[in-house]
Amino acid sequence: MSRAVFIAGAHTDIGKTHVACALLEAARAEGRSVEALKPVVSGFDDADWSASDPGRLLAALGCPLDATALEAMSPWRFTAPLAPPMAARREGRTLMLGEVAAFCRARLAATNADLVLVEGVGGLMSPIAEDATGLQLMTALGLPALLVGGSYLGGISHTLTALEAARAHGVTVAVVVISQSGDAEAPDFGDTLADVRRFAGGLPVIAAPRGAQVGWPQSALALLSP
Ligand SMILES: Nc1ncnc2c1ncn2[C@@H]1O[C@H](COP(=O)(O)OP(=O)(O)O)[C@@H](O)[C@H]1O
Ligand SMILES: [Mg+2]
Repeated sequence: MSRAVFIAGAHTDIGKTHVACALLEAARAEGRSVEALKPVVSGFDDADWSASDPGRLLAALGCPLDATALEAMSPWRFTAPLAPPMAARREGRTLMLGEVAAFCRARLAATNADLVLVEGVGGLMSPIAEDATGLQLMTALGLPALLVGGSYLGGISHTLTALEAARAHGVTVAVVVISQSGDAEAPDFGDTLADVRRFAGGLPVIAAPRGAQVGWPQSALALLSP
């Protein structure tokens, strides 16, 4: 049976795609079949998208980066690097939760992959449609979440706030992954992890350090197994 997990962020540009790709690659290395969805993407350039979220996710899946694969992974693509409903408005388009949720449900029902990752946008409560935040998409789909937090100054609060919001809406957060900040001035990574663990109410908190991806994707995968 498939295991589907929503990859949520405590903030934008925090490492959601980085973590998703590492998990997909680790699962494939273990011989598991994988699938990924990034239903809504903004800041998307039709002429050059290999480094975009769908481009990176398709590469991690081992899929060709072609128009068919792109359309199947990310049907809603917007040019402006803004929250998707704002970016959609600039193009005279409107995006509603119902259609995004229906697309995700149909894809989740149709796949028999061992692991399916659905990446949200921005932070947990970034608007993903005209009428919904990413949190509402997550609750509509009823998926457990992997929450990605960061180790930048302020990251502990962002992570714990997202965790509280998820809990308040009945979302099961299966694991928190703290992606190490690339900022040399960021607080100590180990201290940050210890503080997140202290306040995360017993949830598993995994470190995704910069550089080597040794061990942590496998640990996260083990926690996501049904
Ligand atoms: N733990 C990490 N190690 C190395 N690079 C990272 C890590 N976390 C994030 N990055 C890099 O930071 C940038 C933003 O991360 P990304 O995964 O695109 O964030 P998001 O999907 O949340 O917007 C990307 O270039 C990504 O490769
Ligand atoms: Mg991303």
